[in-house]
Amino acid sequence: MTNTYRIAVIPGDGTGLEVVNEGRKVLQVAAGKYGFNLEITDFDFGGDYYLRTGEVLPEDAVNVLRGFDAIYLGAIGHPDVKPGILEKGILLRLRFELDQYINLRPVRLYPGVETPLKDKTPEHIDYVVIRENSGGIYTGTGGVSMKGTAHEVAVQDMVYNRFQVERCLRYAFEYTRRFGKKARGRGDANTLGLVGKTNVLTYVFDLWERVFHEIGEKDYPDVKREYYHVDATCMWMVKSPEWFDVLVTSNMFGDIITDLGAETQGGMGIAAGGNINPDGVSMFEPIGGSAPKYTGKNIINPLAAICAGAMMLETLGESEAAGAVEDAVKEVTGTKIKSLSAGKMGCSTSEVGDLVVDYVRKS
Ligand code: IPM
Ligand code: MN
Repeated sequence: MTNTYRIAVIPGDGTGLEVVNEGRKVLQVAAGKYGFNLEITDFDFGGDYYLRTGEVLPEDAVNVLRGFDAIYLGAIGHPDVKPGILEKGILLRLRFELDQYINLRPVRLYPGVETPLKDKTPEHIDYVVIRENSGGIYTGTGGVSMKGTAHEVAVQDMVYNRFQVERCLRYAFEYTRRFGKKARGRGDANTLGLVGKTNVLTYVFDLWERVFHEIGEKDYPDVKREYYHVDATCMWMVKSPEWFDVLVTSNMFGDIITDLGAETQGGMGIAAGGNINPDGVSMFEPIGGSAPKYTGKNIINPLAAICAGAMMLETLGESEAAGAVEDAVKEVTGTKIKSLSAGKMGCSTSEVGDLVVDYVRKS
């Protein structure tokens, strides 16, 4: 029997539509080639929808989206909408309400891609950040008092409970066991590094560190455990990225270090992320924004969206197709395009999509 996956596509704002179009083109070809179906439904949520209707998401949106196998998202952010409204009202709302508690962000330098890190090659930049995606400072716990006065107080708490920490760490251990460097034949250990700040945030990261060692020792003794402070992690991400295998960290730290990671892998044109609920519906997106100034020009790089599509296939269980798409992207970066930057690729957005399609067909 042929598997059919129901995919909700939210192109969103700006260049989101262009990159998602290339992504879906590639995904459909991969589906045909590897013997499954993708049944796609489009949703026009984003800045224009908000400006037109006055609501960020229709009331039943989250429940409707729950009925899909996965969500494929372009970009959120509109020049005429105050920053925060769409990000909170769409992106963060979906992450929270669909309980996508993992944000999976590979940091991988593909062949031919220029990195700002001197003398580093794809050999050196090949690790994954697992960002906790449901808690921490992002929950908005806190408040403000005496607003507007010289004594104004603002509090935003880093909130974690044991349940959130444990489920994230378990996912990270399982992931490391399956996809760590040893499992991939690239090293002699599968290593999970906890990134925290135990020297200052002594409550929150004490909890993380205790659970990390407790469950690691008991249930994942085959996975090597390391701990790094977040500031030192930033240093090593630049100096010795080859030390890393899989990293797991809190929501805010993960947000910050993955932008640094993205830059080391060639920038936002290539960086993809998956918001994952292992028992529910997950959402895949290029990490970059909506790039209003490039919108509609057919010059934006669609590879990040295409890589997000590959992650989606992997998560749906179509590993072979996912691998073919990733390999096709490597061929394109390695042999076909001049740069990852918008307007400097030496081809248009749709031509890059076509090149990937060609390689997937040949896979
Ligand atoms: C990201 C983005 C979001 C985040 C913003 C847009 C809310 O920066 O996906 O990393 O902070 O998570
Ligand atoms: Mn971010």
